[in-house]
Amino acid sequence: MLPRILLALSLVTSTVLGQVTVYTSATGTAAIAQYTVASTDQTVLVAPAPPADFNPATFIQLYDGGMTGMGSPVKGDLFGFSIELSVSAMLMGEKGGEIRPEFLNYCSVLASRGGGLTIRVGGNSQDRATLNLEGNPSGRTIEKYKGQNAAPTETPEVHFTLDLLHVMAEISKLVNVHWFFGIPFLRTNSDDNASLVVQHAMSILGDRLLGLQLANEPDLYGRHLKKWPEYSIADFMNETNYMMQDLPVQHPNIVGPSVCCQWTVDQVLDAGYMSQFNNQLNIIDVMHYPNNNCFADRDPQAIYPDYLNHQGVVGLASPYFPAANRAIAGGKKFMMMETNTASCGGFPGISDAFASALWAVDYSMQMAYGNFTYALLHFGGQNVYYNPFTPPPTNMTQIRGWNTGPIFYAQIVAAEALGSTGNARVMDLQLDNGSEHRAGYAIYENGVATRLVLVNYVQPTTPGGNDYTATFAIGGAQTGLPAVTPASVKVKYLLAASVNSKDNITWAGQTFGQQFMSDGRLQGDLQIETVQCNPADGTCNIRVPGPGVALVFLNDAALQSSGAEISQVQTYATTTTTQRIMPTMDQAELMSSNGRNGSTPIGSTSEGSASGAQTLKVASWLVSTATVVVMAKLLL
Ligand SMILES: *[C@@H]1O[C@H](CO)[C@@H](O)[C@H](O)[C@H]1NC(C)=O
Ligand SMILES: *[C@@H]1O[C@H](CO)[C@@H](O)[C@H](O)[C@H]1NC(C)=O
Ligand SMILES: *[C@@H]1O[C@H](CO)[C@@H](O)[C@H](O)[C@H]1NC(C)=O
Ligand SMILES: *[C@@H]1O[C@H](CO)[C@@H](O)[C@H](O)[C@H]1NC(C)=O
Ligand SMILES: *[C@@H]1O[C@H](CO)[C@@H](O)[C@H](O)[C@H]1NC(C)=O
Ligand SMILES: *[C@@H]1O[C@H](CO)[C@@H](O)[C@H](O)[C@H]1NC(C)=O
Ligand SMILES: *[C@@H]1O[C@H](CO)[C@@H](O)[C@H](O)[C@H]1NC(C)=O
Repeated sequence: MLPRILLALSLVTSTVLGQVTVYTSATGTAAIAQYTVASTDQTVLVAPAPPADFNPATFIQLYDGGMTGMGSPVKGDLFGFSIELSVSAMLMGEKGGEIRPEFLNYCSVLASRGGGLTIRVGGNSQDRATLNLEGNPSGRTIEKYKGQNAAPTETPEVHFTLDLLHVMAEISKLVNVHWFFGIPFLRTNSDDNASLVVQHAMSILGDRLLGLQLANEPDLYGRHLKKWPEYSIADFMNETNYMMQDLPVQHPNIVGPSVCCQWTVDQVLDAGYMSQFNNQLNIIDVMHYPNNNCFADRDPQAIYPDYLNHQGVVGLASPYFPAANRAIAGGKKFMMMETNTASCGGFPGISDAFASALWAVDYSMQMAYGNFTYALLHFGGQNVYYNPFTPPPTNMTQIRGWNTGPIFYAQIVAAEALGSTGNARVMDLQLDNGSEHRAGYAIYENGVATRLVLVNYVQPTTPGGNDYTATFAIGGAQTGLPAVTPASVKVKYLLAASVNSKDNITWAGQTFGQQFMSDGRLQGDLQIETVQCNPADGTCNIRVPGPGVALVFLNDAALQSSGAEISQVQTYATTTTTQRIMPTMDQAELMSSNGRNGSTPIGSTSEGSASGAQTLKVASWLVSTATVVVMAKLLL
C-alpha cells in the first residue's frame, strides 16, 4: 500500500493574529515530516529515453476554410473540474461570504481565457448523500457519517446543507462558472432526498446549472454491492424510469448514464436509454481513467511512457467517438464527466509531474476533436496525486500556500487554445505521420485557421537535443489554393525543466511557482514570442522544445479572444484568509469511485481497505475540528 495515511494527530486550534488566522498546535508534536500524504510525495521517476528515430522537423499543411474531419464547435469551458462532493466545501468554501479566494483565483485564470469555467460537484459520495434542509447539527456545510452497521471500509454518507448550493451560486456571481450537480441515485427508493436535491439545485443555481447527474458509475453498483450483485443494464433502465417519474420537474436537464467500467455507453444506448428518457436527458456522459492505482499493484515507472504518447491519447478518447456522434445525432451533447491520469488517486511521479500536463493538453484537444462538449478533471482530497490544485496539508499554512498541480497548466493551455468565441473546431493533425512522440492540433473558427497546439513529449538527454521545428503553411504550394499564411505569428510556450518537474512550470514565462507556494495567481512577466514567417515560400517555422507545448496564434483576433495577452486576471485577496485543511479522501471512497475497474467489492479486508479505516477517522476529525475564517475580497 502506498503511504497515503496521516500518521500523527494533534489538537489544532486557530487563533487570529492581526489579518492572518494562524493554526497552532496544542501538543506541538505533529510536523509535516510526520505526515505522508500524496500531495507532499516527492517521488521522481526515470524519464523515458528519447526515440532513436527522432525527427527534428514536421510539416503541417493547413487549409483556409477548414479541414475535413474537424470536430464540431466547442467552447473554451470544455476542460473543467470535477470535484468530489465530500471534499467540495473544503476546497471551495463554506458559505456565501466565506469562499476561498485561492479557489476563485484559479477559477478566474481559466474563465478569463475560455470565457467561462465548468465545474461538476459529485462523484461516488453523491449517491447516498442527504440534503439537510435544517442544516447539520455541527453547523458545517458537509458532514461525513459512517452508517450504523457499516463495514469498516464503506464509503461514508455525506450530509450537506443548502449552504453548498449557495456557495456555488455565489462563486458564479464572481467568476463565470456553470455547474453540474449529482443526484443521490441510491436513495431513490427510500425517501425524497433525490427530489429535494433536484428542486433546490435548480432553484438556487438557476441558469448556472448545466445539468444534474443521475447515477454515478451504475455499472459498478452490482460489483460493489450497492445494489444486488447481478444488477444489469435492464435493472438500471427500470430504476432510472422510476426515478424520472418521481422528479419534481418535467425537463430537469439530466446527464447520464455515467458508466465507467463494466458496461459501455454504447450498450446503454443500445438498450434505449436515449430514446426512453429523451425528454429529461440533455447530455450523455461517461467517466474514464486510463489506469487505476486502486491496489498499488502497478509500477508507475513501467507505465510512464504511456503518458508521453499521442497514440495512447488517441486510444483513450477514440472508443467514445461513435457514442458521441450518436448522442449528437439524437439531439444531445456528449461529455467526459470525470477523468484524470489514474483512478484511486493517480500515480506518484506521473500524476504530479509535468508529463501529466503534456498528456492532458493532448487529451483535452483529442476530446474536443472527438465532439465532446465537456471533459472534467477530477479532484479528490489530500491523498491523491492528480489534483489540479490542493490547499496546504498541515497546520503550517501561514507560511505555505496552495499547491498547483502540473495538470492545471494544461487547463490553461486548453482554455486559450479554444478561446472564448464558442466556435472552436479542433482537428487532430496526426503530426509526423501519427508519431507517438508529438501531437498537433489545428483550431478553426468560422472557417479561419486561428491557432495551433503543438506538443513535444520527448525528454532530451542533452538540453535542446530533441526540439523539433514545425513548419506550417495555410494553402499555397502543392495545394493549388491561394497561400494565406500570415506574415508573422505569436507563440506562447508551456515549459519545465523536465517531464518529471513538479513545480516551476512556466506558461509564457508566468508560473504558480514552487510547490505549496501559490495563492492561485500566475506570477512573473508575460512572454509572448513573435515569429516572422517566410514570405518567399509562404511557410512559418515554429520551434517546439522537448518537453513542451507551443500554442501558436495565427492572427491577432485569436490572441485577443483567448485572453492570452492579459498577464493578470481579476484576483481575490488572500490577506484576510486562513487556509483550511483539506481532508484526505477515505480509501473506500477512492476505491469505489473514480472510474476504477471495480475488481474488489466494498467491505473487503485487503490491506488497502484496512488502512482506509484509519484514514476515515482522521478525515472526520479534520472536518469537525478545523475552525475557519475565509473572506473573499475583490481586488479591483
Ligand atoms: C504545526 O504543528 C507542529 C506539530 O504539532 C508544530 O510543531 C508547529 O509549530 C505547528 N506550526 C504552527 C505554525 O502552528
Ligand atoms: C433525507 O434523508 C434523511 C436520512 O438521511 C431522512 O431523515 C430525511 O427524511 C430524508 N428527506 C426526505 C425529504 O426524504
Ligand atoms: C423496477 O423498479 C422498481 C422500483 O425500484 C421496482 O419496484 C420494480 O420491481 C422493478 N421492476 C422490475 C421488472 O425489475
Ligand atoms: C465530429 O462531428 C463532425 C460533425 O460536426 C463530424 O464531421 C466528425 O467526423 C466528428 N468527429 C469524430 C472524430 O467523429
Ligand atoms: C506513415 O505511417 C504508416 C503506418 O505506420 C506507414 O505505413 C507509412 O509508410 C508512413 N508514411 C511515411 C511517409 O512515413
Ligand atoms: C524553483 O524556483 C525557485 C525560485 O527560482 C528555486 O528557488 C527552486 O529551487 C526551484 N525549484 C526547482 C525544483 O528547481
Ligand atoms: C482490474 O484491475 C486489476 C488490478 O489492476 C486487474 O488485475 C484486473 O484484471 C482488472 N479487471 C478488469 C475487469 O479490468
